[in-house]
Amino acid sequence: MAMTWLLTAIYILVLILAAAVIVVVLFWESSLLFAPAPFIPTPDEVVPKIVQALNLQPGQTFYDLGCGDGKILLACRANQPDAKLIGIERSWLPYFIARFKTRHAPKDKIAIWRASLLKRDLSSADRMFVYLFPGLMAKLLVKLQKEAKPGLKVVSLDFEFKDKTPIEIIDLKRPIKALGQKLRIYQF
Ligand SMILES: C[S@@+](CC[C@H](N)C(=O)[O-])C[C@H]1O[C@@H](n2cnc3c(N)ncnc32)[C@H](O)[C@@H]1O
Repeated sequence: MAMTWLLTAIYILVLILAAAVIVVVLFWESSLLFAPAPFIPTPDEVVPKIVQALNLQPGQTFYDLGCGDGKILLACRANQPDAKLIGIERSWLPYFIARFKTRHAPKDKIAIWRASLLKRDLSSADRMFVYLFPGLMAKLLVKLQKEAKPGLKVVSLDFEFKDKTPIEIIDLKRPIKALGQKLRIYQF
């Protein structure tokens, strides 16, 4: 009888601990909704236009800064298998999803780093994709002005570098109020 009570108590304790862990993780992830750039995936319809604008060549190095669930990386891999693709993602949940979705790709071709994009050396990039909010774009511009490889091409969805003129603006002709209205292409 005492044994049954003990097992029941342990069982309830484990359940409470699991629930507490889930609540903490969800709270921490949802607090990212108020972060400089929360996880909002690029709409699927826009992805082929991004890949086209990036125009990745064999041997080039591509960075997706704030790669979310890795959908742009996978689309780039399908388009140009001989490029080196690196995703940087700060938030754990999309990071794990991106790791899972890219698990079959060769490790020397796709890497996903759990890190802040502001703390990594980006000087090897030939091409870059960003879908980030204005505050983060401003900080990224300062960083790129110091370390970008000459000729680096950055494709940005919807958000601009305030102090840099794009070489091209592509209107994605999306319904009004839909996410993903414009691509801006910048050259460094
Ligand atoms: C709008 S989402 C875009 C996701 C993905 N690039 C896409 O197009 O589907 C922005 C992503 O940037 C990530 N992020 C925000 N700040 C970051 C930082 N400092 N370093 C790395 N990732 C960051 C967020 O967690 C989020 O997943």
